[in-house]
Amino acid sequence: MRSGVVLANEAIGGGYRHMAVNCPEIAKEVKDGQVVHIKVKDGNEPLLRRPFSVYLYDREAGTVEFVYAVKGAGTKIMAGYEPGDEIDLLGPTGKAYELKEGAKKIAILGRGVGIVSLVSLGVSAAGKGLRVEAILSGKTPDHVFGRKVLESSAAVVHEVYDADGSSDVENVRKILERSRQEGAIDQIFVCGSKRLGKLAYDFSQEHGIDGYISLEERMACGIGVCYVCVCKTTKGYQRVCKDGPVFPLAEVYG
Ligand SMILES: Cc1cc2nc3c(=O)[nH]c(=O)nc-3n(C[C@H](O)[C@H](O)[C@H](O)COP(=O)(O)OP(=O)(O)OC[C@H]3O[C@@H](n4cnc5c(N)ncnc54)[C@H](O)[C@@H]3O)c2cc1C
Ligand code: FES
Repeated sequence: MRSGVVLANEAIGGGYRHMAVNCPEIAKEVKDGQVVHIKVKDGNEPLLRRPFSVYLYDREAGTVEFVYAVKGAGTKIMAGYEPGDEIDLLGPTGKAYELKEGAKKIAILGRGVGIVSLVSLGVSAAGKGLRVEAILSGKTPDHVFGRKVLESSAAVVHEVYDADGSSDVENVRKILERSRQEGAIDQIFVCGSKRLGKLAYDFSQEHGIDGYISLEERMACGIGVCYVCVCKTTKGYQRVCKDGPVFPLAEVYG
């Protein structure tokens, strides 16, 4: 368990909030795609921690950032956190995204709140000199975030929306194909949509590249003990909290 201090917790549109927390222990250890479980307390309720992907981290400043959708009891309490509030964090947990040795270009496909899990990966990859093609999908422009952060790290960003039909799988496939024609994609990473996951799987199979998906399941313990979060894979049932959340696409769609 780690203690963090809320630095900011602001609405950013689309029902999302951005929360920055000072927690040097987590900032030092966290890897791209990992998760932190927040004890969201109002007295003793709710009992269970809530899992959130780490959006960004700064090892030197000792900060970690989250973007979360306000949904039920727990996230409504979180929305009331103010700068200076102390919070109880468990993590980082789970498997991280791994960049392949020698990769020159990656594609990331995020949908809605699933974008959160991919942004630090895009920033890290671009920081290492890889070309990053990011496709960010949401119901409307308000439901997409992360563009500025990714562009400032030199990633190429495409936003697609349900509102104008551009989030259609066929259109996303076209964007991927166009990008591939400009230079081979070595790895593809996806989060937040089963449809985009299937598209990424098909694309990875067609072009013989690695692909990974970060999955979301309801969780209880968050540390691999209770088996509440299992999902069916080609390797049998696996725990999303401990064996994932990042899985090879072939284990999920193969
Ligand atoms: C690996 C992982 C990463 C996540 N990352 C993010 C993120 O970065 N941003 C974000 O907004 N949301 C994220 N979620 C979803 C987030 O955990 C839920 O929206 C949140 O727990 C809802 O809590 P609540 O009390 O507001 O809702 P309630 O519906 O009241 O929650 C009731 C119970 O269900 C669980 N639960 C509800 N929805 C989900 C869900 N979708 N996934 C898992 N458990 C759920 C809660 O933890 C709680 O135990 C993630 C979930 C997982 C599993
Ligand atoms: S939440 Fe308990 S094993 Fe995953």
